[in-house]
Amino acid sequence: MNVMVVGAGMMGFNHVRNFSSFNNVKHVIVVDSSEEALKKVSSLGHCGTVSAYKTIEEALKNENVDAATIIVPTNSHYKVASSIIAKGIPTLVEKPITETIEDGKKLITEAKDCGVMLMVGHIERFNPAVQALKKNIHHLGVPFYASVHRFGVPTERDVGPAFIDQAVHDIDILTFLVGKYPSEVSAVEARIADKKSNDLCSAIFEFGSFTATVEANRVTPIKSRELVILGTAGAAKLDYISQDLTIMRADHVTTKYSTFDEIVLRVGRGTEIKPYFVKDEPLKLELMHFLDCVKNKKEPLTTGMDGLHALAAAVAGMKAAKSGKRESICI
Ligand SMILES: NC(=O)c1ccc[n+]([C@@H]2O[C@H](COP(=O)([O-])OP(=O)(O)OC[C@H]3O[C@@H](n4cnc5c(N)ncnc54)[C@H](O)[C@@H]3O)[C@@H](O)[C@H]2O)c1
Repeated sequence: MNVMVVGAGMMGFNHVRNFSSFNNVKHVIVVDSSEEALKKVSSLGHCGTVSAYKTIEEALKNENVDAATIIVPTNSHYKVASSIIAKGIPTLVEKPITETIEDGKKLITEAKDCGVMLMVGHIERFNPAVQALKKNIHHLGVPFYASVHRFGVPTERDVGPAFIDQAVHDIDILTFLVGKYPSEVSAVEARIADKKSNDLCSAIFEFGSFTATVEANRVTPIKSRELVILGTAGAAKLDYISQDLTIMRADHVTTKYSTFDEIVLRVGRGTEIKPYFVKDEPLKLELMHFLDCVKNKKEPLTTGMDGLHALAAAVAGMKAAKSGKRESICI
C-alpha cells in the first residue's frame, strides 16, 4: 500500500515512523509545507520508502496513493481532508475531527457522498487497556459513574483549549465504554499558563443514567491520565499511560481489618481481576486498523460521527463554562 501523510509535525512524525515500519506499507509519501519538518522525517524509513513533497497536488501528480492521514493543525483539518476525500482517497483525520461542528458535518456528508471511508484519530480507543476494559465491562454490572483526568505539562505550542485538545479524548472513551453519547454538561475553564487558550477545564457530563467528571489541563508538573469507572457490581481503574487496568468486583469486599496492611491492601477492594492483554503503542494499533479497514472496506472503530459527537460535547463544555449553566449537547 502507498500511504500519504499530510503534516509531519509533532504528531505527524509518529505517523511516518509507524507507517515506515509496517510490512504492508510499500511507500510513505509525506507532505508538509515546512522544509524543516520534511527534513526531520527524511531519516525515517529505509531503502527510499519515504518520499517528501511540499504540496498535496505535487504528491498526487507523482504518486499513487491508497490511503491518507491528516495531521495538520486543527483549523486546517476540514480544508485538507475535504480536498483529499474529493479525490476518492480513504482518509484518517486526527482528532478533533474539525475545528467547528459545521465543518465536521460537512466533511462527513462529503465522505458519504463520495463513498470514501473517513476515520477520526481518537487514539485512546486503540489503547490496549481501554480495549481490555471494554471487553470486561460486564464485570461492573451497570456503569453509573466515572471520574477521568488528563493532566499535562505546560507547552509553548499553540494547541488550543484543553476541552478540544485533551478532554475530547476522554469524552470519546466514555462514549465508547457506555455506548451512549453525552446529552448535557456543566463546566468550568481557566487559562493558567497558556498564552492564548484555556488550558484547564473541569466538567460534569451526563449520559442519561451515567454521569462522568472529566478534568483536563496542561498546568501540572507531571503527565497523568487516569480513569475510574463505577458500576452496580464493581469498579475499574485504568492508567492510560502505563496501560494498567484493575477491575474490582463488589463481591467479598472486606470491611473489617486488624492490621495496617489490610487497611492499605484489602479494604474495599473486592475480588480483583487483572485481564490479560499485550501492551502496545496505541498509534501503531490505530494506523494498522485504518489500513485494515481500507484494504477490507470495513467501517472504522472511530467514525466521523464519533468524532463529531466528541467535538460537540467539548464545544458544549466550553459554552457551559462561559454561561455558568448546564448546556445541552447537540450536533
Ligand atoms: N491523537 C493524538 O493523541 C494527537 C496528539 C497530538 C496532536 N494531535 C492532532 O494532530 C494535529 C497536528 O498536531 P501537531 O501537534 O502535530 O501539530 P504541529 O504544528 O506540530 O504539526 C503540524 C504540521 O502540519 C504542517 N502543515 C500545516 N498546514 C499544512 C498543509 N496545508 N499542508 C501540509 N502541511 C501542513 C506544518 O508545517 C506542521 O509541520 C492536531 O489536529 C492535533 O489535535 C493528535
